[in-house]
Amino acid sequence: MSAYTARAHTNIALLKYWGKADQNLIIPTTSSVSLTLNEFYTDTTVEFLDNLAADEIYLDGAFLTQTSTKKVQHLLDLVRQMAGLTNSARVTSYNHVPTSAGLASSASAFAALAGAASKAAGLSLSPIELSRLARQGSGSASRSIYGGFAIWERGYDDLSSYARSINEEVSWPIQLLTVIINDQPKKINSSNGMQNVVATDPFYQSWVAHANIQVNPMLEAIERHDLAAIGAIAEANALQMHAQNMMASPAFTYLTDESWQIISLVQNLRKEGLIAYVTMDAGPNVKIISKPSDTTIITEAIQASLPTATITAATPGPGLYITKG
Ligand code: DP6
Repeated sequence: MSAYTARAHTNIALLKYWGKADQNLIIPTTSSVSLTLNEFYTDTTVEFLDNLAADEIYLDGAFLTQTSTKKVQHLLDLVRQMAGLTNSARVTSYNHVPTSAGLASSASAFAALAGAASKAAGLSLSPIELSRLARQGSGSASRSIYGGFAIWERGYDDLSSYARSINEEVSWPIQLLTVIINDQPKKINSSNGMQNVVATDPFYQSWVAHANIQVNPMLEAIERHDLAAIGAIAEANALQMHAQNMMASPAFTYLTDESWQIISLVQNLRKEGLIAYVTMDAGPNVKIISKPSDTTIITEAIQASLPTATITAATPGPGLYITKG
């Protein structure tokens, strides 16, 4: 059987996925909306072999042990089931994320794995089928099948929960300026963080209800190319998600003093007339939704306030791309 290589780009949620209705199938409690980024991606090669005793997984040249790759093996098992295969696979993956970016996301990793593994197993899956498969590795990966803006429709079971494209080719000016904060708090991975919130936050159902109300205004803002409206809805949604973490028991937060320093700096830039809004994920880094032409002014303001931050401008990127070999 032939080897196949897939490239998938990471995506950042403008409306967040933060909680599962089904842990095993990874069905979310809300729909989420994302922008795929050009600058950060994963290349993964998969080959099913006759003479391998077990799956062999390499990340950035290093061999990974079986215990650290349970989710990868789960996705490979799903592919084997679909293709009627029993062979083990060799998986070689490279993350192309600037080393300091702190964005190493499971989104690009599982989207690339779904693409390469399904092709290597002889399957020809549609984008929706690929999205459902990637979803079962990591929820956010369901959206990285597509370029540009995508929506992961919450759905209610394996068949109905998948992402679809909103707008693959984004030819108007929008960027996410990623600000890497050095001061790292204790790590709580996103799966555990969201599970704590769903289980213990007394306000969680209100968050779900409100997040669902944000979907249509976000889709309309994307359709109008309305950067200020996209930013305002995304910032509110992100702050509301992070507020849920503070309502969990025990309360926790991903945001550090430096995160808040950047958040208030961006709010001040808005008072000066700039279109700039923030979004944050399961870590302290802040992404600034802004116009590419404002990069210099925003970068200079950040450097003056927090000289240790690393800043990368990320622009809309393409969908999954699979090649033989
Ligand atoms: C805050 O997709 O990493 O980035 O499905 O458990 O693997 P699992 O979670 P994951 O969660 C991403 C959470 C987020 C928001 C988002 O990307 O929508």
